[in-house]
Amino acid sequence: MAKLKIALDGPAGSGKSTAAKRVAELLGYAYLDTGAMYRAAALAALRADVSLTDAAQAEAVVARSRIELRWTGGETRVWLDGEEVTAEIRRPEAAQAASYVSTIPGVRAILVARQREFAAAGGVVMEGRDIGTVVLPGADLKVFLTASAEIRARRRADELAARGVPIDFAEMKRDVVARDRRDAERAASPLAAAPDAIILDTTAMEAEEVARLIVLLAREKERKAEAR
Ligand code: DC
Repeated sequence: MAKLKIALDGPAGSGKSTAAKRVAELLGYAYLDTGAMYRAAALAALRADVSLTDAAQAEAVVARSRIELRWTGGETRVWLDGEEVTAEIRRPEAAQAASYVSTIPGVRAILVARQREFAAAGGVVMEGRDIGTVVLPGADLKVFLTASAEIRARRRADELAARGVPIDFAEMKRDVVARDRRDAERAASPLAAAPDAIILDTTAMEAEEVARLIVLLAREKERKAEAR
């Protein structure tokens, strides 16, 4: 079978991560969570004590940081300069910090180059905010997931609660909305659906339904690619 490049984009809580992992599993593809890279980059900047709005310094820190991701079929485990930071990057502070460092074009350039390398051989599901628009504009299948802010905040809250991180739902919702705004309004590769992306509103969908639908679309693309 043809090995596709699949781009899955959307805001926080749209169901992207759950869908992307499940799609990768069902298709036997590799999976890359690009948000985890931005979170690790943000952590590197925080640890180096550089201001998240100091573009040059943050870029220099990220350039010399070793960020490693390993997906073993359950969760993405992440190492920063040899130290495991899997739990730390999932904290709300890391998410907020990531949405700041990800506005820095130099930081994006470094991470995008690594992401393209990962996708080079095909057979990948990559999730993020700009995969279909910037990282892999030639992706074989692009899906942009959306959902209401309410349900997205609820999903994020449940996810964190499952990890034992205490949360305040009202604050979580404000956080989600603020982060969306920053992600969508930034000048460098804002969160946006590619013109050729399929837009899927997951508000009333179960995670498994979303994944199955994407797999169906991917199988069709694989068949077409084979026939060429
Ligand atoms: O998907 P996530 O919540 O783990 O992403 C964390 C932050 O990283 C998010 O606020 C925006 C940023 N990000 C990005 O700018 N581009 C990507 N491809 C992925 C994430």
